[in-house]
Amino acid sequence: MHLRTAAARRFAGALPSLCVLALALAGCSPERYPQTALLPLSDFARIGDHVQDQTFYWALGVFVLVEGALLYSVFRFRGRPDDPEPSQIHGNTTIEIIWTLIPALILAAIAVPTVKGIFDTNQTPPDAMKIEVIGHQWWWEFHYPDADVTTANEMYIPAGRTVELLINSADVVHSFWPPRFAGKRDVFPGRETRLWWKADSTGLFSGQCAEYCGIQHARMAFHVRSVSPADFDGWIAHMQTLGPKPPAAPAAAPAGDSLKTASAGGNVRDPQAAPAASQKDAAAAAPQGPEYAQGEKLFMTKGCMGCHSLQAVKVPKGLIGPNLATVGSRSHIAGGWLENTDENLERWIREPQTVKKGVLMPNLGVTEEESRALRAYLRAHK
Ligand code: CUA
Repeated sequence: MHLRTAAARRFAGALPSLCVLALALAGCSPERYPQTALLPLSDFARIGDHVQDQTFYWALGVFVLVEGALLYSVFRFRGRPDDPEPSQIHGNTTIEIIWTLIPALILAAIAVPTVKGIFDTNQTPPDAMKIEVIGHQWWWEFHYPDADVTTANEMYIPAGRTVELLINSADVVHSFWPPRFAGKRDVFPGRETRLWWKADSTGLFSGQCAEYCGIQHARMAFHVRSVSPADFDGWIAHMQTLGPKPPAAPAAAPAGDSLKTASAGGNVRDPQAAPAASQKDAAAAAPQGPEYAQGEKLFMTKGCMGCHSLQAVKVPKGLIGPNLATVGSRSHIAGGWLENTDENLERWIREPQTVKKGVLMPNLGVTEEESRALRAYLRAHK
């Protein structure tokens, strides 16, 4: 076929690239991305998703109409060498009123679900379980005030129950972002912000600091481990055996919650697959070999305990690192981004400044053998 114009020939030339681009975009399926906000798993996240959906279809309509009219005009009214001077037009009041009114009406239509969404997300439902979230450079601390237990980088929540997060920073500005459950929330020193949601699925889901907070901002991640209410109560009871307080009477599981039986199962590979609740007192029950004893000694003498508590407590005065009460069973280490395998844990102990340059933990001159012993000791803390 003979292509008449240069533009048509250029389009034909670009066709293979456009096909490749279309194929590449097909790879952007949200299932492949653990931190997609397009697959909401909570009531809160669905409010935002609803607004985004509506806005998207309005935008799609505007795009198709405007680009369609543009392309039509480009080809229909293109100039030819012997064309006379076209008639000159200066303004058209009717058209100007129409193209001002239509966008105003579309914006008004988008404003209705947006404003409703703002009010709906601003209102914490009653009877929410409180969790204090504290941002540190570069890790997250989660404190459960009712049970008085604290963990780091892996937040346990009961699926089917509303949680309310009271968010603070210990140092600079961060942003707490659990994309499958809620939008981003800025984190300030000296000012509390709040966020809530009710998860409808169980599993392990990743989240991320979403505000630049220093050189290792990208490695200030965390995970949300959403478990059944019974497993959650089991976890709390287990944590209380590791904390400063003696265990309290177990809380009653909430009745009548609409917890989905088909679990989403999480979208993050979990190297420590079983939840801590089912490994209750694993550390005490497991036979501890000579590596454990050597590790325990090294933990006391190498300087680890100068920064880290082994109890499920908030960062106590004077200490600066996350507590390691359950480090052996956490899915990730080093601020919630490095898989908690034996190899990674040993390397993290040996050379934190290589693994996560600029982090407060210094290289302490730990040998390979010592790192194996420390790993054995910490792995037993579940
Ligand atoms: Cu904390 Cu970025």
